[in-house]
Amino acid sequence: MNQHLRSESVPFIDVAAQRRRLGQSLDEAISRVLAHCQFINGPEVAQLEAALMAFSGARHVVTCASGTDALLMVLMAKGVGRGDAVFCPSFTFCATGEAVALTGATPVFVDVDEMTFNIDPTSLRNGIAVAKKQGLKPVAVIPVDLFGQSADHDAIASIAQRDGLFVLDDAAQGFGASYKGRRIGTFGLATATSFFPAKPLGCFGDGGAIFTDDAELAATLRSIRVHGQGSDKYDNVRLGLTARLDTMQAAILIEKLKIFEDEIAARNEVAERYARGLGNVVAIPRLANDCTSIWAQYTVRLPEGANRDGFAAALKVQGIPTSIYYPKSMHQQTAYRHYPVADGGLPISERLSSDVISLPMHAYLDETTQERIVKAVRGALSS
Ligand SMILES: Cc1ncc(COP(=O)(O)O)c(C=O)c1O
Repeated sequence: MNQHLRSESVPFIDVAAQRRRLGQSLDEAISRVLAHCQFINGPEVAQLEAALMAFSGARHVVTCASGTDALLMVLMAKGVGRGDAVFCPSFTFCATGEAVALTGATPVFVDVDEMTFNIDPTSLRNGIAVAKKQGLKPVAVIPVDLFGQSADHDAIASIAQRDGLFVLDDAAQGFGASYKGRRIGTFGLATATSFFPAKPLGCFGDGGAIFTDDAELAATLRSIRVHGQGSDKYDNVRLGLTARLDTMQAAILIEKLKIFEDEIAARNEVAERYARGLGNVVAIPRLANDCTSIWAQYTVRLPEGANRDGFAAALKVQGIPTSIYYPKSMHQQTAYRHYPVADGGLPISERLSSDVISLPMHAYLDETTQERIVKAVRGALSS
């Protein structure tokens, strides 16, 4: 019996458990869309946008086809392009810098803070100096709320203000977190998030959204997501994309948003249990003052000298999956190696890339399963 339990695989993210919980309400939401057949721009899209406004406190929400589109659309709306420098942390998912490069602008990679893994204000200042030296025009910064923890938005805002940058918060992993008591979605000019299924608030396909208090920007984004459409449908007034969130995904998200608060509380409990069980064997994630995390990932750092591949393999044989986010920081990747980095290099990003590992994390991780994970982690480190 024990033997059987031990080999049973633990899901890294249990999308099926949430599906079971929502059961009928999801089936009905999907059936309503199937009944009205407005698969594009159906009524659920505006309903979801209103619900996201209420949840985040942002004045405008523009849903779109992915988190990457959300980032790209804001950069397009602001006319970012060749000769412009946009500052991004290097220790992030590639979409952060990719969206910048797609506009023709130059992503300038800066280092992250060793405690929070989020953009380091000192390195950001260095990055701005490097960009100026290279003749680039600093225009924007994209802080990332990595692994679900809010970046230090006040520190970033003051640097951005001094240097005339706009702030685009990459909250693909951070929607549902808060900073100084305020929900993510209202910091900087705009916030981009992703509804990829594995995200804390995920749909059943690709999806994303942009949050802003700027009415003009919101109107431009609405145009960009439909090929740059103007008031006359067939007179396109700017370049755009096909970047709409489809109605089915909106209908699914409306149901998921109803239980999101409850899932946020559950995620925090899971994180607290990990902290109690693992705090003395690995470097557990630490929250900065006044920051909360939505725990998109529970990422620990292994002790110096530990063999990360061996550790992952030891957990895998016990049915416990792990992931490495991210084995290479952006400035170490083939497509991004030629872009500038802040003076002094990016030692923290590189160190994190070599010693982090993420454990299963989701709102439905029960205590017994979590004890099994904790025991396996402790065992793998002591052997
Ligand atoms: C930090 C970050 N930015 C952007 C994205 C892009 O989101 P999407 O996959 O919806 O395009 C992701 C997705 O993993 C992400 O983690």
